[in-house]
Amino acid sequence: MILLDGKKTASNIKDEIALKVKSLKNKGKKVPHLAAIIVGNDGASLTYVNAKVKDCKQVGFDSTLIKLSKEITEQELLSEIDKLNKNNDIDGFIVQLPLPKHINEQNVIMAIHPDKDVDGFHPTNVGKMALNLPTFISATPFGILELLGRYKVKTEGKHVVVIGRSHIVGSPMSILLSQKRTVGNSTVTLTHSRTKNLKEITLQADIIVAALGIPEFLTADMVKDNVTVIDVGITRVDDTTKKNGYRLAGDVKFDEVSKKCAFITPVPGGVGPMTRAMLLKNTLLARINKE
Ligand code: GUN
Repeated sequence: MILLDGKKTASNIKDEIALKVKSLKNKGKKVPHLAAIIVGNDGASLTYVNAKVKDCKQVGFDSTLIKLSKEITEQELLSEIDKLNKNNDIDGFIVQLPLPKHINEQNVIMAIHPDKDVDGFHPTNVGKMALNLPTFISATPFGILELLGRYKVKTEGKHVVVIGRSHIVGSPMSILLSQKRTVGNSTVTLTHSRTKNLKEITLQADIIVAALGIPEFLTADMVKDNVTVIDVGITRVDDTTKKNGYRLAGDVKFDEVSKKCAFITPVPGGVGPMTRAMLLKNTLLARINKE
């Protein structure tokens, strides 16, 4: 079994990006500037956004964190977005999801200018991604492609089973891996909560992408030998033995599944760091696109 080390790979990618930033600087050009909006005080979301800001510093990007009250109205949030759209110094920005229930997520995503949508969530960018045109590919699926590519995991002609049909991971992942691209050319089955006989399907998989958000859902009896498993899950599970009171659990029962794997991502240290690295990659792209 080979561990797909997202932490190490992301660190390599960040080194590559830092070199590109240096070269921009040496040419007297502007460095990339990422902004992030966070609404409310959700602990996990704050952790993620702070990590994204820290990553920016690490590679030499400028960053701006905008913290807004959970009571903010949708209109007020849309006007903050409009400011970022118009601010020429900001190359790309994200609005951390999920948002409070009184705010319509789709309205918010649609308000972000596609050229600054480094999350790749705007319909224009999702459409370009689906057509295999150059665009911002959302960070988690992009990170998974990169991880598979760097470890030379063969995808061509392989049967990939994606579990979960979220707009952020499952749906784009299934589209991307089915496309004619270096990491792609797979036969993809997209499964979800209404899928019948899921185990029959996962047992046929050469590669499984588990992105349903149910801790330790995928068990050893659901996979064949030599499978490759990508675990996107990252749920906080109560754990009184930990100082902070929780542990991070993936969607895969790692201890038993890993014994049957050719390749597998750990949680933490697998997909998560790759997601963060690819957001930086998209922000660099946003900057370069403006040159
Ligand atoms: N919430 C969970 N994942 C993401 C992500 O990739 N981007 C944003 N904006 N919010 C998220």
